[in-house]
Amino acid sequence: MATDRGTFGRMGFILAAAGSAVGLGNIWKFPYITYENGGGSFVLIYLAAVLLIGAPIMLSEVLIGRHTQLSPIGAFLKLGRTAFGGVAWSAVGWLGGVTGFVILSYYSVIAGWTVYYFGKCLSWSLQGFSSETADGLGDAFGAFLENGPLQIGFHAFFMIATVTVVSFGIRSGIEKVTKILMPILASILLLLCVNSIWSPGFGEAIRFIFHVGPIRASSVLEAVGHAFFTLSLGMGAMITYGSYIGSKQSVPRAGAVVCLFDTVMGMAACIVMFSIIFSVPEAERLTSFSRSSTILFTTLPRIFYDLPFGALLSPLFYLLVALAALTSTISLLEVVVSYFIDLRGWTRKRATLIAGSAIFLMGVPAALSLGASSALSDFAGVGVLGALDYLASNWMLPIGGFFIAIFTGWFLDQSLTRRELESGHGGSFALFGVWRFLVRFVCPLAIAWIIWAVVGGRSFA
Ligand code: TRP
Repeated sequence: MATDRGTFGRMGFILAAAGSAVGLGNIWKFPYITYENGGGSFVLIYLAAVLLIGAPIMLSEVLIGRHTQLSPIGAFLKLGRTAFGGVAWSAVGWLGGVTGFVILSYYSVIAGWTVYYFGKCLSWSLQGFSSETADGLGDAFGAFLENGPLQIGFHAFFMIATVTVVSFGIRSGIEKVTKILMPILASILLLLCVNSIWSPGFGEAIRFIFHVGPIRASSVLEAVGHAFFTLSLGMGAMITYGSYIGSKQSVPRAGAVVCLFDTVMGMAACIVMFSIIFSVPEAERLTSFSRSSTILFTTLPRIFYDLPFGALLSPLFYLLVALAALTSTISLLEVVVSYFIDLRGWTRKRATLIAGSAIFLMGVPAALSLGASSALSDFAGVGVLGALDYLASNWMLPIGGFFIAIFTGWFLDQSLTRRELESGHGGSFALFGVWRFLVRFVCPLAIAWIIWAVVGGRSFA
C-alpha cells in the first residue's frame, strides 16, 4: 500500500532526528525557563529527565517505527492487533497526528518571528544600530506581535518553506536539507559559545547554569515536560523517522546520539544566552516590554551590538534559530503527511500541500492572538497561541508518551523489542534490562505524576 514513503540513507536518520529535536525548544524555551526556574537545580533535573525518561522513550519510538515501517497510526494499528487483540491502540497514533497538527500550527508562528528578526538584524548591521533603536526594542517587538498581517505573513512564509522541503520527500528533501543545515547550525552555535568565553558575563553564566540550589516542585514538573518537548517525543515524530530506517542501523546508538546532541545544543544555547544576559547590569536585563520569554527578541539584539563582532554575529544567530526551527517543523509536518501516504495512499505532493494548507489555516487564529484580535488574544486568559501550547505540551505530549511507554514496556513482546534493539547493534544490547525497567516502571510512574500534577492545577507550561 505504501507507495510514496522513501527511506533514509546512512546518517540520514541521525541528522534528521537531531534536526527535529534541536529547535525553538532548545534556543528560545530552554534558556528562558532555566532563567525563570533559577538555574542549576532545574538544569540538573532536566538532565536526569532526559536520561531516565527521554532516552528510553526515544528508543521505544524509534523501535516501533523501524519494526513496522509505518507512521504512528499505521504502526499502532499493526502492532496493537498482534500484541493486544484490538485496534484501541491506534488511538495513540491518532492523538500523535492531531498533536503534530496542533503544535505545528503555533510553532510556525513563533518560527516566523525568528525570520523577521534575522531580517531586522541584517538591516541593523548594514545601517547601524543606534541607542534609539535599542531603547525602542521592547515596544517594537510588541507592535510587531500586534500586527496581524505581518504575523500571518511570516507564519505563511514558514509554512511554505516547510511544505517545500517535505514535498521533496525523505532522501531528497528532509535528509538533504538536514545534512546541510545541521553542521551549519552546530558550527554557528559552537562559534557563539566560544565567543562568549570572552564576554564579561561568562563566569556568572556558568555559575548560574551549574549552581545547585533549592528547587520548587513545579520546576521539577516543568523540567520533565521540557524533556519531552525538546526531544520531540510523545507524538510519534520519532516513530515516523524511525520508520524510514533499515535493520542494519542500531536503534540504541542512533537514539543515544540524538539525545546527546540535543542536550549539548540546549546547554550551549544556555551558555550563549546567559553570557550575553549577565554581561549587562541586572536592572537592564529586561527591557520595558519584555518578560523572560521575550528576552530572545528584546534584550538580546540590543546586547549583541555591544559585543565584539556583534554586528556580524547577531544576524548569524537569528539565522541559526530560524534554521533550527525549520528542521523541527519539517518533522512535525512529516508525521501528518506520512499518515495520508501510508493509510490513504495519497501521493507525497498532494499530502504535503493539503496538510500544510490546513495547518496554515489552523495557525491563523494563533497568529492573531498576540494582540491583533482582542477576542483571540483574551481566549482562555492566555490567547489562542498560549492555549494551544498549553494543551499540547501539558496534556497531549505527556499522555502520548505515557501510552508509548506502556505499549513498549507491557504490551509488546519482550522478544520483539529485544530483537529490534539488538539488530544492527552487534547482536546484543547490554542495557536492555535497564531500558525495559525504565520503560515499564520509571517512565509511566513519572509521567502519571506529571499528569496528576497538571490535573491538580500546577501548570508547567
Ligand atoms: N523538539 C523541537 C524543539 O525543541 C520541537 C518539536 C519538533 C517537537 N517535533 C516535535 C516537539 C514533536 C514535540 C513533538 O523545538
